[in-house]
Amino acid sequence: MTTARPDVAVIGGSGLYALLDDVDEVTLDTPYGAPSDPITIGTVEGRSVAFLPRHGRDHRYPPHLIPYRANIWALRSLGVRQILAPCAVGGLRPELGPGTFVVPDQLVDRTSGRVQTFHDVGAVHVSFADPYCPTGRTTVLTESTEVSPVDGGTMVVVEGPRFSTRAESRWFSAQGWSVVNMTGHPEAVLARELAVCYTAVALVTDLDAGVETGEEVTQEEVFRVFAENTDRMRALVLRAAAALPEERDCACSHALDGIKLAFDLP
Ligand code: ADE
Repeated sequence: MTTARPDVAVIGGSGLYALLDDVDEVTLDTPYGAPSDPITIGTVEGRSVAFLPRHGRDHRYPPHLIPYRANIWALRSLGVRQILAPCAVGGLRPELGPGTFVVPDQLVDRTSGRVQTFHDVGAVHVSFADPYCPTGRTTVLTESTEVSPVDGGTMVVVEGPRFSTRAESRWFSAQGWSVVNMTGHPEAVLARELAVCYTAVALVTDLDAGVETGEEVTQEEVFRVFAENTDRMRALVLRAAAALPEERDCACSHALDGIKLAFDLP
């Protein structure tokens, strides 16, 4: 059990519904409603780390209905300033087959109708040219010798919950984008809007339908491949969580410098 305030959190994706042993569980409410699940807090190599399963521990929230704002707000209100975000993705290149880990460095938003800001009042326009924390990315890449992730690549985020058509998928691939998923947005930008570092850690579960060697994607395949790799993902994010620096000076930590907010940060 731990009572220390966590400064690091892991938001677990499909198949990663629990992370830590011997945890405190915190049930929170936020101005945006309840987060996806109670947040568990445990200790990793002496560091207090929070965990939140993005779909809920029983996977009750599909990607388009996840309470993204409540999740990020709740984590920040607990003291979290750095987030590691494991997620399942489809590969858009033949060489990015099932079981490959990717640490993307760019994002394309193809979602529609999702609320993607905390800042409905005033002039608050955060920089998002580099959507992922450079320090978080380097830490994950350095700590991941066992799974040798691909360093960089563009993750296109689709609205879902359906998978892409072959034409959509071929188009994504022709743009040079690397992987496709349904949850990476607006999670990343909401973290940036509260000056919280965010690093996506993607696990390829399938080759998307437009890839030459790709079959039609099925939910069963996505869940099965993620389950087969859950232990590797868990080990990676635990090592990275422990290794993240305690002091931050990356651009994300300065995202709100000089900006007047209409509310107090949690
Ligand atoms: N998540 C895992 N595989 C995916 C795919 N092919 N498309 C969208 N989201 C995914």
